[in-house]
Amino acid sequence: MRQPLVAGNWKMNGSVGSVRELLAGIKAGIGAIDKCEVAVCPPYIFIPQAQTELAGTPIPWGGQNLSTETSGAFTGEVAASMLLDFGCTYVIVGHSERRTLYGEDDALVAKKFAVARAAGLKPILCVGETLDEREKGVTEEVVARQLDAVIKLEGIKALADGVIAYEPVWAIGTGKTATPEQAQEVHAFIRGRIKTRDAGVAEKLRIQYGGSMKPDNAAELMAKPDIDGGLIGGASLKAKDFLGICKAANDSV
Ligand code: 13P
Repeated sequence: MRQPLVAGNWKMNGSVGSVRELLAGIKAGIGAIDKCEVAVCPPYIFIPQAQTELAGTPIPWGGQNLSTETSGAFTGEVAASMLLDFGCTYVIVGHSERRTLYGEDDALVAKKFAVARAAGLKPILCVGETLDEREKGVTEEVVARQLDAVIKLEGIKALADGVIAYEPVWAIGTGKTATPEQAQEVHAFIRGRIKTRDAGVAEKLRIQYGGSMKPDNAAELMAKPDIDGGLIGGASLKAKDFLGICKAANDSV
């Protein structure tokens, strides 16, 4: 049985005050969540605050991105060792916003996965197709390409050290969620593709769904056999909504 992981990707949102309030709200409700792992990925600058405020709780935290470099003259970048220094467990790699707005390609994302893993962070690898790609019927091709880039660089066993998040780009921040059937289809494809190479890795690997997941649609998504939690954007910024999704994941176990 895979333990679901619900992670909040706060993207570029928050202030010292709102982070304090959000984390206090999550902490107040986390006691009822005992079967699902719950994590948050704040913007870099709030990671020390998360570390302080989450100390002693079961809630891990992580970054939303990292550099492929270890140190040096790379203005604006943050290294894996720095994330570790501030207690991060996870780091998101290859989010579609990084891929589309900042030109991160499959090779760079695979490198980030490798660097995160080598440092001892657990990478959350985001994959997913655009609306155009879905309409052209190439969803599986796109997801396979994104996945294979990591497998090619790191080998199949490396996936056991991370998490995959299937995030259809057309569902991110649009209020348009993939139906549970649409999501399950791609999740099963991802697991199946991994299974042909290593059945043990495929069985244990957590595959989250991301894209307009809310408390009122989370339960039916989590009920699908290959959906192991969620990567949550907008709804992770309100403690009540985020906890509602965590509860749905918790109840799905
Ligand atoms: P939304 O939940 O806001 O659609 O964002 C999903 C996402 O991109 C999480 O990484």
